[in-house]
Amino acid sequence: MDMNETVCHCMGVTAGEIKEAVEAGATTVEAVQEATSAGTGCGGCVDTIAELIEEYK
Ligand code: FES
Repeated sequence: MDMNETVCHCMGVTAGEIKEAVEAGATTVEAVQEATSAGTGCGGCVDTIAELIEEYK
């Protein structure tokens, strides 16, 4: 995925920001939500966040 691609449109969080959070130790959806706010709006991006965690961790 392009690092500049917006994963969470509600909170405006990009794939790169999620990758950084995962690399900093946020290896669960909950931890990424805490670190980036991604996935805390409509929730529609949560599955994508989970996939990215698997990819980046
Ligand atoms: S798109 Fe991420 S919470 Fe809505």
